[in-house]
Amino acid sequence: MTQPTIESILKEKRNFPPSAEFAENAIIGSMEKYRELYDAAKADPQGFWAELAEQELHWFQKWDQVLDWQPPHAKWFVNGKINISYNCLDRHLNTWRRNKAAIIWEGEPGDSRTLTYAQLHREVCQMANVYKQLGVKKGDIVGIYMPMIPEAAIAMLACARIGAAHSVIFGGFSSEALRTRLLDAEAKLVVTADGGFRKDKTIPLKPAVDEALRDNGVPSVDNVLVVQRTQEKVHMDAGRDHWWHDLQAGVSANCPAEPMDSEDLLFILYTSGTTGKPKGVVHTTGGYNLYTHITTKWTFDLKETDVYWCTADVGWITGHSYIVYGPLSNGATSLMYEGAPRPSNPGCLWDVVEKYGVSIFYTAPTAIRALIKMGEHHPNARDLSSLRILGTVGEPINPEAWMWYHRVIGGGRCPIVDTWWQTETGGFMLTPLPGAIPTKPGSATLPFPGIMADVVDLEGNPVGENEGGYLVVKHPWPSMMRTVYGDDDRFRRTYWEHIPPKDGQYLYFAGDGARKDEDGYFWVMGRVDDVISVSGHRLGTMEVESALVSHPAVAEAAVVGRPDEVKGEEVVAFVTLEGEYEASDDLSNELKQHVVKEIGAIARPGDIRFTDGMPKTRSGKIMRRLLRNLASGQEVAGDTSTLEDRSVLDKLRSGA
Ligand code: WT7
Repeated sequence: MTQPTIESILKEKRNFPPSAEFAENAIIGSMEKYRELYDAAKADPQGFWAELAEQELHWFQKWDQVLDWQPPHAKWFVNGKINISYNCLDRHLNTWRRNKAAIIWEGEPGDSRTLTYAQLHREVCQMANVYKQLGVKKGDIVGIYMPMIPEAAIAMLACARIGAAHSVIFGGFSSEALRTRLLDAEAKLVVTADGGFRKDKTIPLKPAVDEALRDNGVPSVDNVLVVQRTQEKVHMDAGRDHWWHDLQAGVSANCPAEPMDSEDLLFILYTSGTTGKPKGVVHTTGGYNLYTHITTKWTFDLKETDVYWCTADVGWITGHSYIVYGPLSNGATSLMYEGAPRPSNPGCLWDVVEKYGVSIFYTAPTAIRALIKMGEHHPNARDLSSLRILGTVGEPINPEAWMWYHRVIGGGRCPIVDTWWQTETGGFMLTPLPGAIPTKPGSATLPFPGIMADVVDLEGNPVGENEGGYLVVKHPWPSMMRTVYGDDDRFRRTYWEHIPPKDGQYLYFAGDGARKDEDGYFWVMGRVDDVISVSGHRLGTMEVESALVSHPAVAEAAVVGRPDEVKGEEVVAFVTLEGEYEASDDLSNELKQHVVKEIGAIARPGDIRFTDGMPKTRSGKIMRRLLRNLASGQEVAGDTSTLEDRSVLDKLRSGA
């Protein structure tokens, strides 16, 4: 098991306070200071957020109400006028930051580029003007399907600048996954590239867009803007497709930022849930800007001279909040990397740290586990002395991986911030503040000031110390999701109805199990729903099942996660076949490929198990718990008395 167990957590007693030197120079440098902020925010949340909003951001017009809370709908900074692209760019231009690196980009193979704030501003304005030329208006949605190049960030900021909303679709998703997301959002424009470089290969992106739009597949899309990256030959549809460099050449770089209402839509980002269809998580402008700004500043203890590197892809919320918006709003230098460690270049991350003097490094446990496997001689052969803070996100980190990260990468001196949050929360919810909160390997420690988190039972009662329960948030926060795009009912059902309001207080249900220890530290145990995490990427088991049953051979499919040493979890699919089909290795490979086509490579099952029947309850529910046991080769544990047909289980066990 790579995920921590209750037993291992209870045994984990190591504790790492920040060094005196680190604490002395930190923005929040003591536990007292953290408590002070936390208590002030708890006593007067609106006052706390209002003060920060005024201090930290530029507003075209001040709000007249801090929070309008009609559970489960929150409005923050009501009637305030703001533009996040202005806060990320324009306001830095009249300071020395004008010529500071905003984005340092390290591309593959061997390309690199640095954009100062002035240069980034110029390109964003140009792209925004191109959008206008292509008929994009305030309130329209732009699909962004890009590799990890600066133009991905430029495309996002250009949307924000003119008040269009973006929907970024991870470049690793298949054309079919792209199509359904563009369709759901009724996107007007798609911004893409010919392709991107990924682990010694190129990935075709424009061909996937062509496929998604074929036969009027997404009727709302009028135009496609294509950035040239790999120089591979791609089809260009006259009238629909335009090269970015062609249009950029003739466009003005003057484009004032549109004053947006604080609650105007900033973006949609699709994420997996318990039911089949991915949901469009809706984020708005003012609250999101404030929350990503302040969490970046305090959690990474940002200094003007930091070189900050988050290894996520912009296609995920981590890339939105902590590559683009949070760092740029602070005027920081954000490094973007197109590459990834691989057998042909196992030390590439450390080369980048050395080359640019990276001081803050933020990655995922799955990456750390893969790096451990590659061997510590790679980091040991580089100079990593510029690093001062390390971060992790995406899944619970096992204490061994935490210790390796601390010792080998951090040289024993860098605090590790284990940040628990979600696409839905917009920003960090539980996290150490590195100069204040002593860390414990495997714990995301304490709530960020202003976040009222707890662990409760299904009635909403707080559970006892070190008892397992459900992680909830008790008070609205500025960057909380506002709804599910086009499906407010689903928003209510998914996040607000599993646990009833307690003493009149609504509880946001995160879908994670957790416990709190004797110091009030949170230990997140993983999802309590049918969501699995493959290399830190969230996948709904139903989503993979729907993909499988869309193949003519498949009658029924049940998908579970199996613990995997590096990826955290791996997809295992149990499949029953339609009468005329027979199980074979060829069919197994075909089904795996089919899932890749429907969703993307991240969803490829590691194992397909053909079976005559599924273990079901008398009411017809598949007993996934049993399948999970079987998939990981464990004894089938717990109660099986509700099983309808025991022989199914015996057959599955014997592999028949
Ligand atoms: C789920 C959210 C938020 C960016 C990356 C994933 C898990 C996330 C941690 C952490 C334990 C974590 C949770 C959460 N998760 N961070 N530090 N410790 N678990 O975003 O795709 O929306 O997934 O990731 O299960 O619910 P996401």
